[in-house]
Amino acid sequence: MAGHVVDIVARSLLTNTLRKWGMEGFRLDPTRVRDISGDLLDAHGRLQVVPAAALADTSAEERMLFGVRNGVYGLPTAELCDFLRGRIGGRTAIEIGAGTGALARALGIVATDNRQQEGAAVRAHYQRLGQPTVPYGPNVEKLDAHRAVERHRPQVVIACWVTHRFDPKAPDAGGSETGVDEAAIIASCEEYIFIGNEHVHHYKPIWKLPHEKLTPSWLYSRAINGTRDFIGIWRGGQRSPNTGTAA
Ligand SMILES: C[S@@+](CC[C@H](N)C(=O)[O-])C[C@H]1O[C@@H](n2cnc3c(N)ncnc32)[C@H](O)[C@@H]1O
Repeated sequence: MAGHVVDIVARSLLTNTLRKWGMEGFRLDPTRVRDISGDLLDAHGRLQVVPAAALADTSAEERMLFGVRNGVYGLPTAELCDFLRGRIGGRTAIEIGAGTGALARALGIVATDNRQQEGAAVRAHYQRLGQPTVPYGPNVEKLDAHRAVERHRPQVVIACWVTHRFDPKAPDAGGSETGVDEAAIIASCEEYIFIGNEHVHHYKPIWKLPHEKLTPSWLYSRAINGTRDFIGIWRGGQRSPNTGTAA
C-alpha cells in the first residue's frame, strides 16, 4: 500500500514537472522506473557526491524520478567537485541557491539559499502538487543570493539550477520575481559559475554577457529533455580577498 501511495504521488509530481518544462506529451511511469536513491543517498538519507561512473548507467528517467522525489536538481559528481576545486583555486567561494547543500559541503565552502520552500504558502503549493519541497541541509545558511554575496564578499560564486530574476522589460525570458539577478551577482564577484541544462536555462539574460561554456560528460542532473548539461563561467568585477573591496 505504501508503495502504491508513493507511485501515485510520483505520478502527479512528474506530470507537474513535465508541464512546467513544456514536456506534457512525455509519459513516464514511475512504477517502471528503477529507484536509484540507494546509490545517491548516504546512510542518513542525504544526497552524496558520487563518481560520474556511478551515474553512467542510469537513465534520464531514473535521474528525473530521483530528483523529483528528493528535491534535487543538479547531481554532484566527484569530477564536478574536482573541476570546481581547481577553478576556485585558493580563492574565497560560496554557493547560492544551494538546496540540499551537498555540493558546497563536498567543496568545503559556505552554502547559502533563501530557503523559500520552507515558507507555509510555498509548502502548501507543493503539497497541492503532490511534490516534496527541497530538503535544505543543516549547513545551508538562510540568505537571499544578493545578501549572501554582500555578507560573505566571495571571489567566486557558484550556483546550480538557480532561477534567474523575472524582468518585466523582457517577459519572454521568464524567470521568477524572487529569482536571482545574475548580472548583479556577476558584477559583484570575480567569477560566477553556473551549472545547468541547455533547455531549462536557455533564456537566461546573462547569456548575452561574455562567458565560457563547457559541456563535460561527467555532468548529470534531473533534466529529461535530451539537451546537454553545462557549466557556464562569467568573469565579473575583481575583488580583493581580504578587504572585499572592488579592485
Ligand atoms: C531549482 S532549486 C536548485 C537547488 C540545488 N542547487 C540543486 O541543484 O538541487 C533552486 C534553489 O534556489 C533557491 N532560491 C531561489 N531563489 C533564490 C534567491 N533569490 N536567493 C537564494 N536562493 C534562491 C531555492 O530555495 C532552491 O533551493
